[in-house]
Amino acid sequence: MIARTNGTPISITGLGCHVPERVLDNAELSTIVDTNDEWIVERTGIRERRIAAEDEALTDICLPAARRALEMAGADPASIDLLIVATVTPDMAFPSSSALIADTLGMPHAAAYDLSAGCTGFVYAIAQAHGMLSAGLAKRALVVGGDVLSTILDWTDRSTLVLFGDGAGAVVMEPVARGGFLGFELGADGGGGANLWLPGSGSRKFAEPEKYVKMNGREVFKFATRVMVSSAEAILGECGRTVADIDVYVPHQANVRIIDHAAKKLGIPQEKTVVNVEKYGNTSSGSIPLALADAADDGRLVPGKLVLLTGMGAGLTWGSALIEWTHPTTGAAA
Ligand code: ACO
Repeated sequence: MIARTNGTPISITGLGCHVPERVLDNAELSTIVDTNDEWIVERTGIRERRIAAEDEALTDICLPAARRALEMAGADPASIDLLIVATVTPDMAFPSSSALIADTLGMPHAAAYDLSAGCTGFVYAIAQAHGMLSAGLAKRALVVGGDVLSTILDWTDRSTLVLFGDGAGAVVMEPVARGGFLGFELGADGGGGANLWLPGSGSRKFAEPEKYVKMNGREVFKFATRVMVSSAEAILGECGRTVADIDVYVPHQANVRIIDHAAKKLGIPQEKTVVNVEKYGNTSSGSIPLALADAADDGRLVPGKLVLLTGMGAGLTWGSALIEWTHPTTGAAA
């Protein structure tokens, strides 16, 4: 789907993120699998990632992010009437992680559900929240993106282990006077799904079920470099904007080579591109809100700036959102 928004302007009024304390750097990773810092940095740009503790599940890392976002928005948790958590690593299949978070934070009036769209989950979730808010079905939404991928990684498989990390981010969304989201583009290609999958993790029986993420890195790389560009171009065209209008580009943080390729092909200069993959790796649904929070801490997200978010991931899925930033956002540090 692709659409320019209409009706009441809706924007992000609060932003927060959180990562687990434990840092796993490339040197330590090299003691676990046959890899080295030079290979990982050259092929991915990643230097370290955060790994959840044994007793830390998804909601444990989402809650601090959500609390920060609510605080920044000055929003009472009880005023949230929609909570969407984008993730592929919920605490459990049910109850949903969003229902658990709503209960812990005290959101008795919130519709709460989880959404699964791989690493594009956060972009899908803000589009859904936008739809509900602009239709008047909700008044104030909390959208959380987060994953604890370390729990579904094969810790003996160097081809996937080096790429991923754990983390979460959250935003409060609500109607504003002007500005806010200008449009969304979202897509999915289930035909390519087996290039990044976890067969046996649901109701379909497989002769050889997998416990861990399986990925065809080269195919995902080709897919990623294609859709990161086509999705961004599509949403800019739909909203009548050009690349020159973009002030802040927040791409999914999968691999610095994918980000560089997309930015170069689109013609977005380095200084407008947010990159933090070196310190967190690919945190899936947490990636874009974590990068947004870093951009806020750098003072880049000021009212009036045009911000482009583009993600891609398992599904295979992709998605972009274009926002005219409306609210001062600072202090969202992890
Ligand atoms: N350390 C050292 N060597 C390694 C490692 C490692 N961690 N992993 C693979 N190698 C070796 C391979 O065995 C191979 O050796 P060989 O030539 O002797 O056979 C060599 O390095 C090259 O391997 P390739 O897989 O061809 O390496 P490539 O340049 O394609 O890079 C990578 C691999 C980084 C995974 C790349 O394909 C990529 O980034 N793909 C996209 C992955 C991605 O972003 N996935 C997630 C996106 S979706 C989402 O976010 C959920």
